[in-house]
Amino acid sequence: MTLFDWFLLLLCLGVVLYFWGTSTYRRFTKPGIPHDTPFPFIGSMGPTILKRQLFTDMILNMYNKYKGRPYAVMFIFRQPVTVIFDTELIKTIAVKDFDYFPNRQTTLFENADPLFAKALPNLKGRDWRDKRSILSPVFTSSKMKTMFLLVSECCQQFVNFLEECLQNKPNECGIQKDGDTLVLELKNFFNRYANDVIATTAFGLGVDSLKQPKNEFFVMGQDTFNFGTFRILLLLFIPKLLKVFGVSIFPNRIADFFRSIVKDTIATREREGIVRPDLLQLLMQTQKGNLEDENSTEQHPKSQTKQLDDEDVVAQCVVFFVAGFDTASTFMCFACYHLAIDEEIQTRLQNEIDETLREGGGKFSYEALNGMKYLDMVVSETLRMYPPAAVDRVCARKYTIKADPPLDLMPEDSLIIPIFGLHRDPNYFPDPERFDPERFNDENKHKINPLAYLPFGIGPRICIAVRNSSSRLPDVAWKLISNSPG
Ligand code: HEM
Repeated sequence: MTLFDWFLLLLCLGVVLYFWGTSTYRRFTKPGIPHDTPFPFIGSMGPTILKRQLFTDMILNMYNKYKGRPYAVMFIFRQPVTVIFDTELIKTIAVKDFDYFPNRQTTLFENADPLFAKALPNLKGRDWRDKRSILSPVFTSSKMKTMFLLVSECCQQFVNFLEECLQNKPNECGIQKDGDTLVLELKNFFNRYANDVIATTAFGLGVDSLKQPKNEFFVMGQDTFNFGTFRILLLLFIPKLLKVFGVSIFPNRIADFFRSIVKDTIATREREGIVRPDLLQLLMQTQKGNLEDENSTEQHPKSQTKQLDDEDVVAQCVVFFVAGFDTASTFMCFACYHLAIDEEIQTRLQNEIDETLREGGGKFSYEALNGMKYLDMVVSETLRMYPPAAVDRVCARKYTIKADPPLDLMPEDSLIIPIFGLHRDPNYFPDPERFDPERFNDENKHKINPLAYLPFGIGPRICIAVRNSSSRLPDVAWKLISNSPG
C-alpha cells in the first residue's frame, strides 16, 4: 500500500469511528431540546475524566444551569441521559408511569457479571418484582430489631477499642494521640465499622477490622469497590460484548470468596442447627418459605420461594454489602464533620444521647434509638446535604415526556433524578449550603416538598432498607458522641 492508501484508510476509519462515537447523540441534540454539547465518545464526561469535576458536581452544575426547565440531556460517554428537574415530572416517571421505567442502569450487569446480575438492584421487570416481594419481609422493623443486638455488639467492640487506645498505648493500636485526643482518619475508621456490621448482619461472620486490619473479609470488601477504570469503560461502551467474551465486571476471586462464605455458613448452620439473628438466616428462612411477613396475612407461596436459589442468596448478601457499606460510612463521616464544626448542634445531640443512655441504664435499645428526635433531625439533614446514593431509571417502552418541549424516549434510554441538585435547591431548602437540622423539626418538616427530598429514592424501587437504615447503621457515631463513659 502507498502512503496515500494508508491515509485514505485512516481517514475512512476516523470517519466511521466519529459516526459511531456520536451516533447516539443525534436524537437528543435537536434544536429546542435543552442539552449539553457532547464531545465525541466522551459526551459530557471530559471534566470528570480529567478529575476536574466530581460526578455529583457535574449533576449539580447541570441542575443549576437548566433549573426551571422540566428536563435537560447530558451525555455519559455515548449514553444520552435525561436529567429530570421538575418534581411533578419526577413523580409521574418514578411512580405513576413506573411500568415504563421499572429498571435502573445497573441492569447492565445482566450482561457483565453473573453473580451481580442476580442482586436486587440489578434485576429487571418481572424478575425484580418477584424478588422484591420475596425480600421485603426481611427488612421489616421487627426483623431489624432482632438484628440490632448484633449491631450493638459491633458498636461496643469499636468503642472499647478506642477507649483502650486512649487509656493504654495508642501507638499499639496504630492510632495517633495528640494530648488527650485520638487522631483518626474517619472514613477509614467508619469503613471498618460498616464492614464489620455487614459481616455480622449479612454474612454471619464475627470480624474485628480494627484489631485485625488486614482480615480477609475487609480486604476482599475493599477490592469489591476497586474494580478498575478499564472494566468500567468496557461496561459503559460494550456491555453486551462482555457477556459474549465471558468477562466479569468483578474479578472471579471476589465473587468466589463471597460464594464460599455464604455457602459454607449455610451448610454449617443446617448441619449443626445453628440459628442466628441475621440477614443470612432470614434469607435461609425465605428460601424455605417459612419467613413470616408481619405486613401480610400469608406466608410466601411455594411458587415464589422456589425462585430464591443459593446463588440468589449469595447475590443478595453481596448487595447488602455493596449497598450498605459506602452509604453508611460516607454518611457517618459527613455527620461527624458537621458535629465537629458546630458545637451547639453537637452539645444538643450529646445531651439527647446522654439522657437516652441514662434512661436505658447505659444502653441503647432499638426503640430508644428510634425515639431520639434530635438525632433524627441530624440524620435527615446529613442525608439532605450528602445523599450517598444516586437514583436513575431506564426506559422499557417507547414513552413521550409530556413537557415543553416534549421528548420521545426509546427502550434503554436513561434518566437521572438529580437528588443532589434538588437537595441543594434554595427554592426547596433556603440557604441550602447551611447544615441546619431545624429544617426537620416538628414544625418545619411538613413544609418540605416530599418530592424534593429523596435520599432513599422514590417509587416502587425505593431503597428496600428505607425504614431502618437511617437509624440502624450510624449508632457507633452516636455512642462516640456521648459524654458518658462506657
Ligand atoms: C443511609 C443509608 C442508605 C441510603 C441513603 C440508601 C439509598 C438508596 C437509594 C437512593 C437507592 C435507589 C432507590 C431508587 O432507585 O429509587 C437504594 C436502593 C437500594 N438499597 Fe439502599 N440506601 C441505604 C442503605 C441501604 C442498606 C443498609 C441496604 C441493605 C442492607 C440497602 C439496600 C438497597 C437495595 C437492595 C436497593 C435496591 C432496591 C430495588 O432495586 O428494589 N440500602 N438505596
